[in-house]
Amino acid sequence: MELLVREAQPDDAEAIVGIINPIIEAGLYTAFDTPFTVEAERKYILDLPQRGLFHVAVRRHDQKIVGFQSMEPFATYTHAFDHVGVLGTYVDLSYRRQGIAMRLFELTFEAARRRGYEKIFTYVRADNQAALGTYLNQGFQIIGTARRQAKINGKYVDEIIIERLL
Ligand SMILES: CC(C)(COP(=O)(O)OP(=O)(O)OC[C@H]1O[C@@H](n2cnc3c(N)ncnc32)[C@H](O)[C@@H]1OP(=O)(O)O)[C@@H](O)C(=O)NCCC(=O)NCCS
Repeated sequence: MELLVREAQPDDAEAIVGIINPIIEAGLYTAFDTPFTVEAERKYILDLPQRGLFHVAVRRHDQKIVGFQSMEPFATYTHAFDHVGVLGTYVDLSYRRQGIAMRLFELTFEAARRRGYEKIFTYVRADNQAALGTYLNQGFQIIGTARRQAKINGKYVDEIIIERLL
């Protein structure tokens, strides 16, 4: 699939929600449990923190958004973590395993270094082998397991903590 990866714009909100909400509703992949509204997503893009990154992957032939990746500083209550970002990656469930995440990582890593990030620290549900495989393929390492970290539909789920130095 020929892709263009670019920064998200407020008008991308509807397409982004069209990707993330089915992922949330499936209940299998993410700790998010409440679907996003288009208005909330648009506001999130408009109010993105100064060091926030938000990239979309667009299929070239019809301009359809097929995936996105966003990153924010790990914490804002201290400058001690300014060099650490937390990342999320979401690809349309119909277009998985076609290299879309891989393309998003390329731009995000480059943009993150430019913004002064030195490492990415994030979490993946222990039952989400696709996400874990994707991050390990991008050079992330497992640093531990947070047991019973999420409770989704009444069921505990462990979270795998991963990191990658940039
Ligand atoms: C995880 C996710 C983002 C991967 O996106 P993708 O576009 O399908 O990934 P890619 O096609 O770029 O895969 C790149 C590499 O990652 C690894 N990978 C991807 N999916 C995998 C899977 N199901 N099992 C094992 N490894 C996998 C492979 O090494 C793959 O390379 P290959 O296809 O040449 O073997 C996608 O499955 C998704 O959006 N899932 C639902 C949301 C989610 O779980 N997000 C993560 C929450 S933090």
